[in-house]
Amino acid sequence: MKTLKDKKILITGASKRIGREFALAAAREGAFIFLHYSTSEEEARKTQQDIREAGGECERFQADFRDPQQAIPIFEKIFAAHEMHALVNNASIFMQNTLRDATLHDWDVHHAINLTMPFLLTQTYANSPCSTSGRIINILDWRALRPGKDHFAYTISKAGLVALTEASALSLAPAFQVNGLALGAILPPSDGGDTSNIIKQVPAGRWANLDELTRTFLFLLTAPQYITGEIIHVDGGRHLV
Ligand SMILES: NC(=O)c1ccc[n+]([C@@H]2O[C@H](COP(=O)([O-])OP(=O)(O)OC[C@H]3O[C@@H](n4cnc5c(N)ncnc54)[C@H](OP(=O)(O)O)[C@@H]3O)[C@@H](O)[C@H]2O)c1
Repeated sequence: MKTLKDKKILITGASKRIGREFALAAAREGAFIFLHYSTSEEEARKTQQDIREAGGECERFQADFRDPQQAIPIFEKIFAAHEMHALVNNASIFMQNTLRDATLHDWDVHHAINLTMPFLLTQTYANSPCSTSGRIINILDWRALRPGKDHFAYTISKAGLVALTEASALSLAPAFQVNGLALGAILPPSDGGDTSNIIKQVPAGRWANLDELTRTFLFLLTAPQYITGEIIHVDGGRHLV
């Protein structure tokens, strides 16, 4: 029995990497995937095709989150037309900067993509007459709960997403469950940054298996309704160091 049979799930930034893994895992459990992408059209097409070849259903659509006012009407139409089982706020940018050198542009673009869009999507989903209940999963980072010196604008935007997760869980209860997945060393950064020191600081001593990630993701998509406002770390213990 497929646990998500015919459930509609919208995943942002799902063309490749972690978002693609989420999309394929949910589709294998029978979900209908609304696959958002921004620039990776080829990868989005391939993920859609892979989902369909595995017997799943998938609709893909493009939106650039740097301009939330342009992006949000695209989502309003989708939420107005479909009863959505879940919204997954996965799309993100991750750039290296510090408190001393981050520019206003760095700050604005990280906040627009990593925080403002999740806020507006949460609001659009919750206010949609089609979806009177549902689930929201915000994809976080262990750094969001242990802010440090690196990736400054990113970390602050993800810390805001932790606050959004908890405030939304309270604001939208009992109709919506809102939870977070705080990730650690899952895939090397897409910016090609140096990864040689990453594992030294992970108590588990290795990168995650993608299966460990998707099993936790599927758990949150089907978890008991009494679980809300929770943040689960999938980071091999990195947040404890
Ligand atoms: N990788 C890890 O090990 C790790 C660790 C900790 C936390 N995380 C979190 O896990 C999630 C997925 O990580 P990832 O490494 O797979 O992410 P990623 O590859 O860096 O980015 C995911 C997607 O975000 C989309 N995106 C970027 N800029 C956008 C924009 N302007 N408008 C709309 N979408 C945009 C991209 O879509 P297009 O490609 O279509 O442009 C991209 O494919 C993120 O939230 C990240 O913070 C990941």
